[in-house]
Amino acid sequence: MFGLKGKSLLTLHDFSKQQITYLLDLSSELKSKKTMGIQGDLLKGKNVALIFEKPSTRTRCAFTVACVDEGAHPEYLGKDDIQLGYKESVEDTARVLGRLFDAIEFRGFSQKVVEDLAKYSGVPVYNGLTDMYHPTQILADLLTMKEHLGVLEGKKFVYIGDGRNNMANSLLIGCSKMGVDIFIVAPKVLWPEEEHVNICKGYAMEAGSQVIITEDIDMVRGADVIYTDVWCSMGEEDKAKERIDMLKPYQVNQELLQKVNNPQMIFMHCLPAVKGNEVTEEIFESKYSVVFDEAENRMHTIKAVMVATLA
Ligand code: CP
Ligand code: NVA
Repeated sequence: MFGLKGKSLLTLHDFSKQQITYLLDLSSELKSKKTMGIQGDLLKGKNVALIFEKPSTRTRCAFTVACVDEGAHPEYLGKDDIQLGYKESVEDTARVLGRLFDAIEFRGFSQKVVEDLAKYSGVPVYNGLTDMYHPTQILADLLTMKEHLGVLEGKKFVYIGDGRNNMANSLLIGCSKMGVDIFIVAPKVLWPEEEHVNICKGYAMEAGSQVIITEDIDMVRGADVIYTDVWCSMGEEDKAKERIDMLKPYQVNQELLQKVNNPQMIFMHCLPAVKGNEVTEEIFESKYSVVFDEAENRMHTIKAVMVATLA
């Protein structure tokens, strides 16, 4: 449907608004099916390799449960289980896995690795997070926003914190394509790359939305969504002290919510969260927080991606 059969999900750059909308609608359908307790067989006979160079709770479990719910077999391959990239080239591993599996999920450091897996395996490859992008998370975030806000178009989305990590980069693409006004509020040294911002401004122009990058915390005013992520992503643990010093004013706390001044707002976070850093326990546990809906939606959206690309 909409050219999704056989397609890889490496970044949302390669997906149109129509394709994303279709995936969100399919996610809702599959979610209702699961709620009704219907065992599916849309992926019957499929085998999916799940490669994890970095740890994961949500992504790993979402792929695993989504596969089993629709009759596929997931095979977890941790970083010490295979020779990817050190004893065997990415190209050779890709060609082997492509002979055995119907699709491959990859979580790791390098965006080039996930792209090479897609290039050489000949099967759909799903990016389960790299240093640059986290596209399956964005589908869950958009679905959660739709469920809580009704529509996406015209909503004010503020991402506050580390503005140049995989989440900020990916939210910029997803929101701008879907007509959501996205504000990245971050200290200038943590702004996303200009070239990336300009590409997303192009998407926003097409969708009739805006992309604003700012240091000004007062820009949170009237936000429909306040989103944050950890201040040190996986692999950046040595940067903890400097990030805490730099990002303390950008913490999501009661004072920030007062600036937002929108009783209908929702708080989002891809998780895992470091409470006391990017968000206070109080806001994390508040009525605004939809973080566990978001976590659950990882599974429904990942299932939709596999069904749309494989079934
Ligand atoms: N949000 C997310 O990707 O969580 P995990 O790291 O637990 O997979
Ligand atoms: N930016 C975080 C996202 C975790 C889901 C990281 O890369 O660690």
